[in-house]
Amino acid sequence: MADNRPIGVFDSGIGGLTVLREIIATVPNESTVYFGDDGRAPYGTKSHSTIINYSLQDMMFLQKQDVKMIVIACNTASTHAYKTLAKCSNVPVVEVVVPGARAAVEATKNGRIGIIATNATVSSGVYESAVKEAGKNLPSLEVYSQACPLFVSLAEEGWWDDEVALLTAKRYLAPLKEAGVDTVVLACTHYPLLANTISKVMGPDVKLINSGIAVASVVKDILVKNDIESDGTNVTRSFYTSDDPSRFEAVASPFLGRGLPAGTKKQVVDKYDVSGLV
Ligand code: DGL
Repeated sequence: MADNRPIGVFDSGIGGLTVLREIIATVPNESTVYFGDDGRAPYGTKSHSTIINYSLQDMMFLQKQDVKMIVIACNTASTHAYKTLAKCSNVPVVEVVVPGARAAVEATKNGRIGIIATNATVSSGVYESAVKEAGKNLPSLEVYSQACPLFVSLAEEGWWDDEVALLTAKRYLAPLKEAGVDTVVLACTHYPLLANTISKVMGPDVKLINSGIAVASVVKDILVKNDIESDGTNVTRSFYTSDDPSRFEAVASPFLGRGLPAGTKKQVVDKYDVSGLV
């Protein structure tokens, strides 16, 4: 029987819409509920325990929307909180690290992979381990990680493809160029927006991995495997932010296009008590 409950997607803010966009493209018949925790973003500069608490509250809000699956679109939340969320959830939880790591290993020819992400993601070491695990049968594999925190602000400012972005990218990406990587994982929700600039700096032969695409295909597999696909009637797109809905929509609309997001509501989630869950 069809399961028309929505898929819940959350991120620290608007960046996760790059993942939502791929989910909508891959499974357009599925309803979605998106929560962006803009009021408490960025997560990439927070501590491990804060990221876990915030992520649990985000998940609790989505559970109250009767979702059939939860997608952690945020790389920082995936690296720090996935295990805890998966343990506490009664619906499947999808994270972004392993799909991105596998896609990178499939793409590389010279075995040199770069990971660019927030400080919290890089310092967790989780992405690096996931790439090493996914590539354990490759004869040689080198992983180089680089935190690019200013990319988040540039993406939110809409400075995706200008000289400020280019100068910043040149500075951050110099060590990866030096290392001769042929594949770079965009291991942060916002970075696909800067893909042109990153590509200009890294050169046309370096492949950029947008984990949103890989995640969307995992979502599809889980829907099929668990027999929880929607029949496509009354497909809805709901959006919530913990900050100002009009700002969310103004900054977020270039991410999604097609008049989305629309009707965004404000939702504060710090009222949810997660103390018994950690
Ligand atoms: N969503 C975060 C990530 O993918 C980036 C923004 C933040 O630091 O909160 O890591």
